[in-house]
Amino acid sequence: MNRESKSRPAMAVHQALAHDSAIKHVTGQAIYIDDILEPRGILHVYVGTSTVAHGRIRHLDLDGVRQFPGVVAVITAADIPGVNDISPMHTLDEELLASSIVHFRGQALFAVAASSRDAARRACKHAKVDIEELPAVLDIETAMAQQAWVDAPHEMKRGDSEAVIAGAQHRLEGELWLGGQDHFYLEGQAALCVPQEDGDMMIFSSSQHPSEVQHLVASALGRPDNAVTVEVRRMGGAFGGKETQAAQWAMLTALVAHHTGRPAKIRLDRDDDMISTGKRHDFRIRYRVGFDSRGRVEGIDLELASRCGMSADLSGPINDRAMFHSDNGYYLPAVRIRSYRCRTHTVSNTAFRGFGGPQGMMGIERVMDAIAAELGLDPLQVRLANLYGGEGRDVTPYYMTVEDNILPEMLDELTRSSDYAQRCEDILSFNQSSTVIKRGIALTPVKFGISFTNTMLNQAGALVHVYKDGSIHLNHGGTEMGQGLFIKVAQVVADAFRVDVGRVKITATTTGKVPNTSATAASSGSDMNAMAALNACRKIVKRLTAFAAEKYAVAKSEIHFDHDEVLIGDLRKPFSELVMEAWQGRVSLSATGFYRTPKIHYDRETARGRPFFYFAYGAAVSEVEIDTLTGEHCLRRVDILHEVGQSLNPAIDMGQIEGGFVQGAGWLTTEELWWDEEGALRTHAPSTYKIPVSSDVPQTFKVEIWKRGKNREATINRSKAVGEPPLMLAISVHSAINQAIASLFPGSCIPPLDAPATPERVLMCIKRMRQSPV
Ligand code: MTE
Ligand code: MOS
Repeated sequence: MNRESKSRPAMAVHQALAHDSAIKHVTGQAIYIDDILEPRGILHVYVGTSTVAHGRIRHLDLDGVRQFPGVVAVITAADIPGVNDISPMHTLDEELLASSIVHFRGQALFAVAASSRDAARRACKHAKVDIEELPAVLDIETAMAQQAWVDAPHEMKRGDSEAVIAGAQHRLEGELWLGGQDHFYLEGQAALCVPQEDGDMMIFSSSQHPSEVQHLVASALGRPDNAVTVEVRRMGGAFGGKETQAAQWAMLTALVAHHTGRPAKIRLDRDDDMISTGKRHDFRIRYRVGFDSRGRVEGIDLELASRCGMSADLSGPINDRAMFHSDNGYYLPAVRIRSYRCRTHTVSNTAFRGFGGPQGMMGIERVMDAIAAELGLDPLQVRLANLYGGEGRDVTPYYMTVEDNILPEMLDELTRSSDYAQRCEDILSFNQSSTVIKRGIALTPVKFGISFTNTMLNQAGALVHVYKDGSIHLNHGGTEMGQGLFIKVAQVVADAFRVDVGRVKITATTTGKVPNTSATAASSGSDMNAMAALNACRKIVKRLTAFAAEKYAVAKSEIHFDHDEVLIGDLRKPFSELVMEAWQGRVSLSATGFYRTPKIHYDRETARGRPFFYFAYGAAVSEVEIDTLTGEHCLRRVDILHEVGQSLNPAIDMGQIEGGFVQGAGWLTTEELWWDEEGALRTHAPSTYKIPVSSDVPQTFKVEIWKRGKNREATINRSKAVGEPPLMLAISVHSAINQAIASLFPGSCIPPLDAPATPERVLMCIKRMRQSPV
């Protein structure tokens, strides 16, 4: 873009435009994998899975399956021409189809392709599977005792926390258990493969990571990456659950297509999806902390143990991110954080909005509440006393300086706007007169690091064409999962040419246009892809400017793109007209763009560096009411103040903040994953697994985007990422429920409420407090 056009006002960016597919979403016209018109001869795939948690396959008798009417092909591990592996980080520890050992109930053993989905599904029941059961490790404690890891334990450390804790005026220790979470995207895992000439494959996948699906499909087929093209128009929700978990199903359709020469489709039903795909990691967190009489932490030791399931998947970086967020917004002077990544015979856990960050933050927020209870202080005072800021208090446990510490200001504003102090008093007097119903309130902050902590992944590409009629074709490596990435990038592109956003055609992500992409994850989709698209646009604007300058003999500085027109000296002409002239003048109107996030670096060996380009901040005040006889709770009021820098699109960002919060509240209160002693997931349908619905939204829900927000780093239009951080605002709900329980036991320690805070767990917590109040 030339110097002058920069000064022209933005037209699209910062506007609250609707999601580009909003109308299509609500009218049912948006096309998901299962809506794509089925090609002639399509086969439907269903997967036969293990019914034991750990065992050795003695014999798979699939004759009955093959003979079932409608069945065209049955695929086992032996039918994989290439590599039998779905691991995303080349750990080679998770098979596409189990060859000899099964590692969890629900693991894929074979795939059936039939003329109808129903036939494929029924045929599966005719398999005779003989598996010799082996001892299974199902939980964190057993795995810890056996030192069964998917990835080596890791430590971050600064100072001598041991000595500092020992010498502190006050000391506390405790333990907290956090459950996992199913993604419960509306569109389940799905893929369609259409075979091409030369054995190449065209795949339509519901994936956050088309490049990885491409690579894994190619390697299973024993072909190079260029034999496979993966296209993703949109996902019906993903939330991290389609970062790695989409590949397996796409690979199975490709195998069927390879063996039969026919198109193949798979669509997991809800139960199979919940049983056979990974979830948020459940965690056990232990802390020992030493603090002063104001509640300021002096030394802390945190031990994080998570259930990773049967393979590494993304557990390494997820547990790293839990460690990176174990400070949340607080300065921890002497600190040791240890992380254990437990291997169990359960489904391999994976990315979920926040990527371990929420679990890390829950630990330190519990510590804040515990300190407050111990000293008889308002938890908010303890939180404020511990915030980053002040002389020498700005370095994280991984030695990154917190440069844009706006939490003190934000908390101050939210405390006042939510009337926190008055409501604390009101709640106190309510609780004194109410015996069964108790209320609680909590204010918790969020500080979330933005960037992939694996520095290499922070790169993105784009491809922009301007057609000779002036219409624009936009493509980039990011995927759309409902988060509004596509409209945000389109807004940036429209502004780069100073044209109406309607001129910009948003197109499906495909590995054929932009190669070697990273997953759309770590909330960095718009940060990176909008920058890459802008880079492409600037190249074209530059060419158009040079062309116009020459053709009309005016200085480049006299050329301005403005409101769908171009000013060339005194001449004003429609954008489309200049484009046509440029085409006639043989100017290239297509460009690729690229972006790599600056400033970041990290040395994992020493656990030091700057893994994040910047932090995104927010804070929430939640007020709850619990029924101490039934354990039920309701969310009376929630006030949120969230920071998105200068918002690219406040309507989209609002949706992300509200949705993220509600999803977080679901994780911490109602969504319970329950495995039986045989390793079978018993909550595998909405009948037993309770996600929030519209009636679970807080009775009063006041959400504000922080008006003074501005990214001090040179991100796209000074915006900040928003995809994941708001989920962690829901920690305030859990804390508020615990405060309500605590009101039953004045003067005692913080109740040991685990998550999710289901009615049962609330009652168990009250019972434990009654039995042994401290
Ligand atoms: N919002 C919707 N509606 N659907 C989703 O699947 N995924 C979340 C978040 N918001 C998700 C969502 C997750 S886990 C991430 S990492 C980001 O969106 C990814 O998109 P972004 O980087 O463009 O924000
Ligand atoms: Mo999001 S968990 O980084 O896909």
